[in-house]
Amino acid sequence: MNFFSTIAQFIADSPANQLSLYLLRNVPGLPPIVQTLHIISIAAIMGSVVFVALRTLGLAVPSQNPREMVQRLMPWTWGALIVLAASGSMLVVARPFRYFSNPVMGWKMIFLVAALVLSIAMLQGIKRQYPEPAIKSASLPLKLLSLGVVTLWVLVVLSGRWIAYSEYLFAPA
Ligand code: HEM
Repeated sequence: MNFFSTIAQFIADSPANQLSLYLLRNVPGLPPIVQTLHIISIAAIMGSVVFVALRTLGLAVPSQNPREMVQRLMPWTWGALIVLAASGSMLVVARPFRYFSNPVMGWKMIFLVAALVLSIAMLQGIKRQYPEPAIKSASLPLKLLSLGVVTLWVLVVLSGRWIAYSEYLFAPA
């Protein structure tokens, strides 16, 4: 048994697995409701931290000050991440072997951690570069950071959607 199947077995033997399986099988409509919450939260991520990055790149809402956008929009990012983690984890805990044996799920988690690290670095950069409301363009390093943020969040979404299609990428053993 490898490391990931050991974790999957541990989760499969846990009461959390029984509970999430019971709820997903017995609460009418719960599986599509959970996935819909996941998808709505993805939209909140795109409409908040990714929009701040597009503004910093000079590709959206040029009249808006990135610092003010951070204050208004980042609470949506943090809230959406909580809902994404809760809804996604419920699906993983219910079927651990499906997800811990799926390389695309691993890529998604790597992209997600990288997206979070770069997003926090971008927020720090915006705080430093936009101390006052004066509108100006970001420095090249901050623009490159913002480009990395947009790219990584798009890769999280792509790999999230591809989880269900990984058999088209990897021939079954
Ligand atoms: C810890 C956080 C997360 C976990 C545990 C998680 C887990 C999952 C799981 C288990 C699925 C269902 C895959 C399937 O069976 O088809 C899924 C789908 C998906 N996830 Fe996540 N996810 C998380 C965060 C995110 C984030 C941050 C995003 C994007 C911003 C995202 C984007 C997606 C997308 C696009 C899908 C496909 C939805 C669909 O079309 O049904 N996920 N995720």
